[in-house]
Amino acid sequence: MTDMSYAEATVPGACLRAGIAQDFNPLSPEQIQNPLPILSAARDQEPVFFSSQLNAWVVTRHDDIHAILKDGERFSSAIFPAPEFPPEVAAVASQTFFNPEGMVLSAVDPPHQTRQRAAVNKAFSARRVASHEPRIHQIANELIDRFAGRGSADLIEVFAYPFPLAVIFSMIGIPQADWARAQALCDNYFALFGQPLPPEQQLRHAQGLVEYQEFILALIEERRREPQDDFTSDLIQAVDAGQIDLSIKEIVQLLGVALPIAGHDTVINVLCAALYHLLCHGLWERVLADPELMRQAVEETLRHDGSVTALMRIAKQPITIRDVTIPAGAHVYLSVVSANHDERVFAQPECFDPARSNASNHFTLGRGIHYCLGAPLARLEVQVALSLLGQRLPNLRLGPEPCIEYSAVDPFVRSIKRLDLVWDAR
Ligand code: HEM
Repeated sequence: MTDMSYAEATVPGACLRAGIAQDFNPLSPEQIQNPLPILSAARDQEPVFFSSQLNAWVVTRHDDIHAILKDGERFSSAIFPAPEFPPEVAAVASQTFFNPEGMVLSAVDPPHQTRQRAAVNKAFSARRVASHEPRIHQIANELIDRFAGRGSADLIEVFAYPFPLAVIFSMIGIPQADWARAQALCDNYFALFGQPLPPEQQLRHAQGLVEYQEFILALIEERRREPQDDFTSDLIQAVDAGQIDLSIKEIVQLLGVALPIAGHDTVINVLCAALYHLLCHGLWERVLADPELMRQAVEETLRHDGSVTALMRIAKQPITIRDVTIPAGAHVYLSVVSANHDERVFAQPECFDPARSNASNHFTLGRGIHYCLGAPLARLEVQVALSLLGQRLPNLRLGPEPCIEYSAVDPFVRSIKRLDLVWDAR
């Protein structure tokens, strides 16, 4: 079995010098397949460079990226400009609170981000997340029931796509009967704010978002009247009691898009990458038999193939990194995939090694004030899913080659689009 992943990375010679900025293109098919060679050369020869294609300064070394992620004073996360729409679309879109500009938490700087984070931290603590574990098991088992008898499948289609969305909808308190509708309505967000579309389609998606906002507001009202054991009830009770300070706009953004979006594709990718590398390297049975090794394997997957390619910041003032001065207002592209493979920090970084002692020093979950709020949930979801897939799908193995397909729609995420698996159906 050939591992078509980062394990094949080879470092090109010094011929890349001076060509790094021109050649760097995280959306080219070669660099989607294997982004490591050019980044390795950049770390050695030109660790900070300007990419005209990204219109951003690219930073590649682990220590530089670490310093920037910890420096919320001089680097801003308010990176999304206000979207521009034709007047008829803007008139509808402005009726909702959904807008990437100023999105709660991830696109907001202190002091607002600090206040928002304090309001929701408790709900995402390892302890509170652990209380959702039985429900996460139930969701995973119900999904596996539907396809275990088939003997082969694309894991994304049958499990990895619906699973994290079901978990987050369930935590929020959206009734299972409404999950499909909530997902369809939430998809309008990406459609409207993603790639440019003809105005009539934009209008349709803006109208869909108005409907989604009504759906979320109705859920909030229901939970206010009749609280349940879910995140929305906890949040509304705490707001109404004056214990936390969040506006209705922030609550709608958080429940409607921030959580479902942040916790979906990311989990799909890490789950599939973990399974792929464990099966590919003959480690699957060992990891299933050893919960501690399973935990380590998930961490090593986050480092080795965690799908978050990069994070973006804006320099608030001129800042010199090594011998390069980044001007105020410039975009700074932090190559997470490069930092996670920096040989100054990780020995033999191209190897997938669950026993690696410092795997958790990756940046796939960020670092500093914006460190992933859902990290305990994400780790738990992936561990539960791997264990149950192992228990329920005997003799699980990779499908015929090429069994995996990577893609990238933007320079920030490298996703897995397909993972074919085979097992002995009972
Ligand atoms: C393996 C899966 C996941 C990965 C790789 C991931 C990655 C990240 C990263 C890199 C950041 C920092 C962004 C930055 O610094 O600009 C972040 C922030 C965040 N994540 Fe995750 N995430 C994952 C799962 C989740 C889940 C399951 C949730 C919740 C449902 C979630 C919610 C958030 C939120 C709300 C933030 C913003 C935190 C803030 O700005 O204070 N994430 N995530």
